[in-house]
Amino acid sequence: MLLPLRRRQADVIRRRLLAFYDRHRRDLPWRGSRDPYAILVSEVMLQQTTVAAVVPYYERFLARFPDLRSLARASEEEVLTVWAGLGYYRRARSLREACRQIVHRYGGHLPGTVAALRELPGIGPYTAGAVASIAFNLPEPVLDGNVVRVLARLAARSGRGSGERRLLEQAARTLVEGRRPGDLNQAVMELGATICTPTKPACGACPVARSCSARREGLPEKYPEALRRQSPQQRRGVVLVVRHDGGRVYLVQRRAESLMPGLWELPGLSGQEKDCVALEPRSVARAARRQLGQSVVLGKRLGSFQHTVVNRRVKVEVRIARLRPHGRSGVARAAVRSVDPGCDPMPPVTAATRKALEVAGFSPRAWIPAGGGQ
Ligand code: ADE
Repeated sequence: MLLPLRRRQADVIRRRLLAFYDRHRRDLPWRGSRDPYAILVSEVMLQQTTVAAVVPYYERFLARFPDLRSLARASEEEVLTVWAGLGYYRRARSLREACRQIVHRYGGHLPGTVAALRELPGIGPYTAGAVASIAFNLPEPVLDGNVVRVLARLAARSGRGSGERRLLEQAARTLVEGRRPGDLNQAVMELGATICTPTKPACGACPVARSCSARREGLPEKYPEALRRQSPQQRRGVVLVVRHDGGRVYLVQRRAESLMPGLWELPGLSGQEKDCVALEPRSVARAARRQLGQSVVLGKRLGSFQHTVVNRRVKVEVRIARLRPHGRSGVARAAVRSVDPGCDPMPPVTAATRKALEVAGFSPRAWIPAGGGQ
């Protein structure tokens, strides 16, 4: 494929991609819907997250918030509870806020242009293009990782830098300016997810292999030029299952300015350097006292788990603890609540807290919100 993409070549590639999509597309729950709200939910969830991870969350989310008004009416905590575990929680907050604005500004109907969609919180060029094309059948391009890879290979271009990116965007626009723009965009994503994969692309099964310059060169994996990723930093953490009143455990709320603001977690210390003295039991107990406003006594180690957040791999140790009788108390730095994970409805907790509670022997079924596991 040559850039800039000529209309004649675009017509051939589009026809093949649509035929491929009609025969081989995966049966994904949002693909059965024409409801712009459902499509918006799916595209927001699919930002930075794989299809396999999204499917159960999408189904649970739509069962709980079946239409835009139900999401606009819900409290932030209700929304985060259903979102908990999917990560990137700002997306959930912005999605709820976008729905509130849509109710106030557009009478509850999702606006049907990229410009109006872009004004809503959490909707960037990718999501606006995806919703406009899939829900409103507008010829708007989308450029996510899969699309960039497919186009970069078709054209044998590095895809790095703003000039290259503009060229690929132009090609995406030329391709989408034809029949069935929403399906065309999804066809390119589908090809990237299932055939034109980052390593070992299945060129033998590719509907546009004949138009592919990278394949002609013999080494399609060379494109697009890889970003040099930093390897994740290895960190350590300790979280405490502070039990009281039989089965209850304490949770503390993450601060507004933190990553994952507003979510609840076990008290403790996390993300410390590998050999950090801060992980001495005394330091952990001090951190927990600040968070809870009460002194604790550390008990035995229950186990550990690995957890990755953004660019950090954290080995988290889970320890039992209890409140120190007649210990010092003060003002808790964080909001504190206690729950019985076996019985109470759980507030939105971080994924690491879920893992820690599992290590501590609580059954995940009991604390994943209604609708089942992941
Ligand atoms: N990734 C982002 N949007 C998608 C969609 N609509 N279908 C499949 N994968 C996607």
